[in-house]
Amino acid sequence: MIALGCDHGGYDLMQEVMAHLDQRGIEYKNFGTFTKESCDYPEYAKLVANAVVDGTCEKGILICGTGIGISIAANKVPGIRCALCHDCFSAKATREHNNANVLAMGGRVIGAGHALDIVDLFLDTPFSNDERHIRRIKGIEG
Ligand code: RB5
Repeated sequence: MIALGCDHGGYDLMQEVMAHLDQRGIEYKNFGTFTKESCDYPEYAKLVANAVVDGTCEKGILICGTGIGISIAANKVPGIRCALCHDCFSAKATREHNNANVLAMGGRVIGAGHALDIVDLFLDTPFSNDERHIRRIKGIEG
């Protein structure tokens, strides 16, 4: 189960992400926002982050206008490793190296075609389980 959240700046791209997940048969829980009306991204970041941390969802995808605000907010929740990715290399690397559990993107930054490739890499790439990466992730957690 994938947790989804966005603000008004990410709303349009999130519709594309949901259609893509439907097409791939991947289950998701959409935490909103549900309209294009202006809203506050921290609310949706926290809903998604909490669903990932409490195990309701295995990963999350967050979208705001830039991806920046919503990723900063998600990373305030202990246990969240939210990666802001606008390229395929980073999406793959953050799974392999950081075991990122939430992907953030900016709906005003990239087109849907590119974003969906990033989503696929994020969802399909396993963590490397390399000792050095495990050590570094533990280091993040303090
Ligand atoms: C909303 O206008 C915009 O500030 C928000 O979507 C995001 O880009 C914040 O980081």
